[in-house]
Amino acid sequence: MKILLLASAYNGMCQRVHRELVIDGHDVEIELSRRKEDMLRSAFRFRPELIICPYLKYRIPDEIWRQFTCLIVHPGIEGDRGPSSLDWAITDESPDWGVTLLQANEEMDAGDIWGTSAFPMRNVSKASIYRREVIQAAVKLIKAAINDFAGRGFRPRPLDYSSPRVRGRLLPLMNQERRAIDWDSDGCADIVRKINAADSFPGVADSIGSHEVFLYGAVSDTGIEHDQTPGELVACSHGAICRAARDGVVWIRQMKPIDRDSPYPFKLPAEDLTRHLLSDSDFRAGRPEISSRAYREIRVATKSGVAYVDFDFYNGAMNTDQCKRLKKCLEEVHAREDVRVVALMGGSDFWSNGIHLNCIEAARDPARESWLNINAINDVVRQIITMAGKVTVAALRNNAGAGGAIMPLACDRVFIREGVVLNPHYRNMGLYGSEYWTYLLPRRVGRKMAQRLTRECAPLLASEALDIGVADTLASEDWRDYHHELQSYCESLARDRQFSKLVARKDQGLAQDERARPLEEYRQDELVRMKETFDDPESSYHSLRYQFVRKIPLPTKDEAKSRALRTVKKQVPAETTRTNSSRPEVAYEASE
Ligand code: COA
Repeated sequence: MKILLLASAYNGMCQRVHRELVIDGHDVEIELSRRKEDMLRSAFRFRPELIICPYLKYRIPDEIWRQFTCLIVHPGIEGDRGPSSLDWAITDESPDWGVTLLQANEEMDAGDIWGTSAFPMRNVSKASIYRREVIQAAVKLIKAAINDFAGRGFRPRPLDYSSPRVRGRLLPLMNQERRAIDWDSDGCADIVRKINAADSFPGVADSIGSHEVFLYGAVSDTGIEHDQTPGELVACSHGAICRAARDGVVWIRQMKPIDRDSPYPFKLPAEDLTRHLLSDSDFRAGRPEISSRAYREIRVATKSGVAYVDFDFYNGAMNTDQCKRLKKCLEEVHAREDVRVVALMGGSDFWSNGIHLNCIEAARDPARESWLNINAINDVVRQIITMAGKVTVAALRNNAGAGGAIMPLACDRVFIREGVVLNPHYRNMGLYGSEYWTYLLPRRVGRKMAQRLTRECAPLLASEALDIGVADTLASEDWRDYHHELQSYCESLARDRQFSKLVARKDQGLAQDERARPLEEYRQDELVRMKETFDDPESSYHSLRYQFVRKIPLPTKDEAKSRALRTVKKQVPAETTRTNSSRPEVAYEASE
């Protein structure tokens, strides 16, 4: 079927829908421009049978929806309308929520309904719900609607507020007054809920000293007793700050200055921003008994010979300190005799998105910070590659991008969750890339496919990753099922009678690879090119990073991307994959 996607950004939702439809054999084009003339041109030139809007922030021009069937993904239950759906669902503590696919008409969000799907709510940020539950439900609804549309007999039902099943209603934009924290009366649960409802956008407006900031990434601890005034800064640890609440403390992981003229008008680790904003005398945060109980982004849980290493970095971005901490943790896990298998879990929303562009942007010397950050992440990757005596498993349960999509390939096995979208390329950020990608990617997919992936900059859906050898096992999309499958996979590896042979083969393979070409050579070659880019103030990396962190739209890039996407078809194995001698077992053999 000819399908046009209209979207406000080529974000995780749009990428997932795009790849799913291409894999299903549809002829898909994408229009990302919000200019009416561009949308009209795309629609009337391509003449799609169906238009789908997975993520659209504005109205579809009348000329389009009158002529074509346009289906819009709305992140709300049937009857819900307005721009703050998930914000209200979290604020009102709805036990469940949903996604509705509706047909565009003259009234925003009030069109006929093609399908609706419900899910239980979790006590997490709205971005987390969006990335997991909303995207999963939307994909199912879209696929069902395409079938219904192709069947031609289907009639969508009009929105009928008198029906008992219609529980939603029109709700206004949630403003900052409604979101505001009252530190004197709100308890930890209220504060976390308010921040969750505004995370990742727009954040809850608050203040640190005399500085107005948006707050994000809240984690509470009601087990701490203190006599501090609610709202007061009482500790900081690993990039987060801790504020007193009337019934405990709340850790704030990220903040952004409200002042757009600030030199850092973007999200930063809350501790870093506090240090930028407050003088040392104003920033005397340091109750050691509180800091020692801080929320930890890096956690290890061990069971039946398997160490599950979570590294839950906000937005999957890994700054120099975070990389150093992760490397240290991996060294410790490596040294443990009770651990045979190490599962790298990434975070709860992203697996990893590579170096921390916001921290780099805020650094006094971004070129130097880029250099430190890339070396620190390379050290993590090297630590994973060289984990002798253990089997490493990348538990790719969430999306990953740039160096963060290469890092899992350092593991012996890649266990990917259905629906995950990978972006294993750097060009969109003007970088050649490092993280040993010149070793890791070709050894899994072959040289030609590696070139294709890094040049075309197209996203890769989990099933495609499996087809071309980026991943070894495709597991359920359902979060619980995925973890059960992962656990039994890791435990059976740890119990394997052939375990010693498995790791011996892996260790020999690595030694063989090192003899063929030392790992350090791959790294040095990559770093020479990276350093040239970092040290060149005119390189596109610096301007692309500037725009990325400030969310400045890149019309020319988006247009180019939009054009490029039209040509990207399903990723098929283009060549016989060179199997990796250092991996414990040949888990795939890509065909011609
Ligand atoms: N550093 C800092 N922040 C990052 C980041 C990074 N490397 N990668 C993503 N983010 C942030 C985004 O700014 C966004 O922030 P928000 O919470 O304020 O909205 C958030 O993570 C989610 O990213 P978004 O781009 O909205 O997600 P997506 O699913 O649409 O796209 C990527 C995912 C990976 C394709 C995209 O984020 C990207 O290109 N990131 C840059 C990757 C990169 O170049 N890394 C450096 C080279 S190793």
